[in-house]
Amino acid sequence: MDREAAKERIEWLSEEINRHNHQYYILSSPLISDTEFDHLLEELIRLETAYPEFLLPHSPTLQVGGDITKEFKQVKHKYPMMSLGNTYSEEDIRDFEDRIHKTIGDAVEYVCELKFDGVAIGLTYREGILVQAVTRGDGTAGDDVTNNVRTIRSIPLKLRGTGYPLEFEIRGEIFMPHASFEKLNEQRTDIGEEPFANPRNAASGSIKMQSSAEVAKRNLDCFLYYLPGDDLPFTTHYERLTAARSWGFKTSEFAVKCHSIDDIFDYLNSWNEGRKELPYDIDGVVIKVNSLRQQELLGYTAKSPRWAIAYKFKAERVTTTLLSVDFQVGRTGAVTPVANLKPVQLAGTVVKRASLHNADVIAALDIRIGDAVFVEKGGEIIPKIVGIDHAMRPPDSVALEFIKQCPECSAPLVRQAGESAWYCPNELGCPPQIKGKLEHFISRRAMNIDSLGEGKIEILYENGLLENPADLYDLDSDDLLGLKRTYSATQEKKEKKISFREKTVTNILNGIAASREVGFERVLFALGIRYVGETVAKKLTLHFRNIDNLMKADIITLTEVEEIGEKIAASVLAAFADHGFLQIIHRLMDAGLQFEIRESEIIRKSSKLDGLTFVVSGVFEKFSRDDLKKEIENHGGKNVGSISAKTSYLLAGENMGPEKRKKAEKLGIPIISENDFLAMIMQWRPLPETV
Ligand code: IVH
Repeated sequence: MDREAAKERIEWLSEEINRHNHQYYILSSPLISDTEFDHLLEELIRLETAYPEFLLPHSPTLQVGGDITKEFKQVKHKYPMMSLGNTYSEEDIRDFEDRIHKTIGDAVEYVCELKFDGVAIGLTYREGILVQAVTRGDGTAGDDVTNNVRTIRSIPLKLRGTGYPLEFEIRGEIFMPHASFEKLNEQRTDIGEEPFANPRNAASGSIKMQSSAEVAKRNLDCFLYYLPGDDLPFTTHYERLTAARSWGFKTSEFAVKCHSIDDIFDYLNSWNEGRKELPYDIDGVVIKVNSLRQQELLGYTAKSPRWAIAYKFKAERVTTTLLSVDFQVGRTGAVTPVANLKPVQLAGTVVKRASLHNADVIAALDIRIGDAVFVEKGGEIIPKIVGIDHAMRPPDSVALEFIKQCPECSAPLVRQAGESAWYCPNELGCPPQIKGKLEHFISRRAMNIDSLGEGKIEILYENGLLENPADLYDLDSDDLLGLKRTYSATQEKKEKKISFREKTVTNILNGIAASREVGFERVLFALGIRYVGETVAKKLTLHFRNIDNLMKADIITLTEVEEIGEKIAASVLAAFADHGFLQIIHRLMDAGLQFEIRESEIIRKSSKLDGLTFVVSGVFEKFSRDDLKKEIENHGGKNVGSISAKTSYLLAGENMGPEKRKKAEKLGIPIISENDFLAMIMQWRPLPETV
């Protein structure tokens, strides 16, 4: 394909993919299959890699992410980002309506909308292309999170239709749908990270991540609900919303015009119930005056518009009694206090238990057995205890003490500075930790031994056949045939019948044998080192190549790897300093598991960089640092962390540390730019001397 043809094809593919994104994410009516879509995207990525100069500012490949933002730039809002007056009472809504009538005099039309519970965002479009996305910040200035926002599939990178101004801003709410939230929390608990308390926290945490590729994986979504400014050709808010939809924005289908206070109350009441069916959180309803002329007449207070008000739903709250507190130990050893409550009906379900989170929460609530407690189900999915009715406290109650020893193995609990959770440190001897680690090891995303499950792991453990992952590889059919549960029948657990007949045993052993082929990155994830989730495992294996290199790495080499901070590095170091853990690794090596990245996992694109070593530093425009490093390896080169006389090139991006540059200059190492590098691997130009 010649350059001109490539340029045209890139333009066509960008348009076509954006069109399909709109069909899928806004109109919910895809025109092509996921596979066909993936093929288009793959072709575009291929062409953009070969012809980076033709990458468009609205290329859908930006939605995959890749850019890293070290520090978010502060941007002043053109129109201040105000908040809304809040109310919880119908009385206040009547007052609001009265006030408006007094100012306007004649009939007023309202638009009632859902109040989405997420993070406010202002998007600026110039000539139909998304050029900037800024958070609320303090209302006057916010953070420029454009790279991250570009990964949200429902936000158009290029507008459709006609009639939009040359430059304008549109505002809305970025949120995390329930499905994405639950998946994310599952993954976080898996690696011993604290789960997010609610989808709003998850959304605001995600939008401020440094790596846009990570943001892309969070599956955020966005509703647009407000177009500030007077340079738009419309007379009502509703018309603006309709126009926004025609330009490709996701606006809510539940915005409706209301003509009386009764209409408004009907809307409020129906959503107080209806919100439970939505796949995302709303925390209320917003009522806006529809006419823009009337909005102007009403004006603003210092903090909020007089033409709109937010009615917030009351969190549903009931009173019940705290019967007892259990302390549960998870796979990572974290001890979570769980309240057992007198069963009570709340928001459509019977609530019997509520999380008390950690020792600090218990202390802050000063909660005691027998207390009458208030339980709420707000935005959070798990009900929580929000307070105590002190007037009802039994006179003889005593303060609740957080346990000092593990309820499962009696080991004294420990707490690290700066952390709120107490941990049982007896990783290799505490039953729920042992079983949890084994379950993690065999899980689908780790070693994927699906012929074993929670129930079977439990039986193997109870029968003394399994204490750590390495024991799996010593099992034979004599061990397994005819195994049974050993615990007493009094244990109240509804279990499926599990039998270890011949066929089951063969399946288990085949599953274990097949896991020997699972790649190093999943083996590393399966080992269950705290904070080493799938992404971190992938980064570490790509960087260090084999377990020996990884075990030899010190804190400096570890933190040199992109996105590996001190917390993760310390956890990796602690794991490899543990004698018991090392023994397990050695046994797994002897059992034939993969502890080295396979040549086939490295895409061998060429040998152009054979024998060359690179130091990649700084922030790049077209590719993430990780992708550049991968490309170096794909073409036969090697990445190293620091500059020495043996380094062939310093590949320098923006904001590179001055020390690196100085050292390279002193040793006469050529410093090359991203473009020089791309030229090196793509167009067969001779290697540049220096820049
Ligand atoms: S209108 C000038 N509409 O709630 C008024 N806001 O405290 C612009 N929100 O800042 C806001 N859903 O972050 C508006 N349908 C909706 C909304 C909404 C959620 C958020 C937004 C706003 C805050 C008000």
